[in-house]
Amino acid sequence: LDTADQMASVSSRSVKKLPALRGRTVVNLFFEDSTRTRISFETAAKRLSADVINFSAKGSSVSKGESLKDTAQTLMAMSADAVVIRHGASGAPQQLASSGWIDAAVVNAGDGKHEHPTQALLDAMTLRRVRARREDRPSTGMDLEGMHVVIVGDVLHSRVARSNVWLLNTLGARVTFVAPPTLLPVGMDHWPCEVSYDLDEVLAQRPDAVMMLRLQSERMNAAFFPSEQEYTRAWGLTPERVAALDAMDAPTVIMHPGPMNRGLEISSEAADSPRSTVLAQVANGVSVRMAVLFLLLSGDESTPSLSDN
Ligand code: CP
Repeated sequence: LDTADQMASVSSRSVKKLPALRGRTVVNLFFEDSTRTRISFETAAKRLSADVINFSAKGSSVSKGESLKDTAQTLMAMSADAVVIRHGASGAPQQLASSGWIDAAVVNAGDGKHEHPTQALLDAMTLRRVRARREDRPSTGMDLEGMHVVIVGDVLHSRVARSNVWLLNTLGARVTFVAPPTLLPVGMDHWPCEVSYDLDEVLAQRPDAVMMLRLQSERMNAAFFPSEQEYTRAWGLTPERVAALDAMDAPTVIMHPGPMNRGLEISSEAADSPRSTVLAQVANGVSVRMAVLFLLLSGDESTPSLSDN
């Protein structure tokens, strides 16, 4: 996170480029759709002067039955130093990293319902910056001790929730999940968090952040709630709930990993309000992914030189 802070200062310059990964090749291997993660990994690699190969399963030989192993080895033949993989199967990045199929660093860009580690890192970076602004001190070296983060919605299908619970807890934050019982996974009693079914009651505690999760209808094969209207009424961040936060003068920022279902889990009034960190999260995603690629590929764990020559 401290390295990401350094990278953010590069992104705010007129020349947004470092020579750190000149001559290195990063392959973006995306078997599932993505806007933010794919583009920000590409931007991050290019800002570090790496060459980038973008692979999307749609329109590739995957549709002819080519396996993950053969696809990855084909891309390795083009001398990749790192493979950034998003896959619908939980564990696909682990398989690629441990199988010996390829000789490259592997970065998980989201695997099934399992993990989305760089999303959790960019969320933590966003929360550190919120706290730094509030306390008028630098975010570098900061943890999230004492912060209360509420994560709301489709926890069952969410890799964002699974990665965030571990990282937020590691950094000292208190995490509360709010969801209908049908959208909470079995085994959550082993997670370091609290669980509630009442969003209004939890928001009344004036948390530091409320993170709305996307309702992942593409992963649902059953009816998990009576209707979309009912879901929004009980678990959506409606204009009325934003007004209630304002009336309490709550410090709560509104987070969403994107893409958002406006009018379902989050209203436009919430997404576009001054409390929203949605676009800051996207910007921080580039800095975090620059840090990940730099620390993996430069062979240098010290603070990066911000020199652009
Ligand atoms: N948050 C996130 O992973 O968004 P994308 O699916 O657009 O990459």
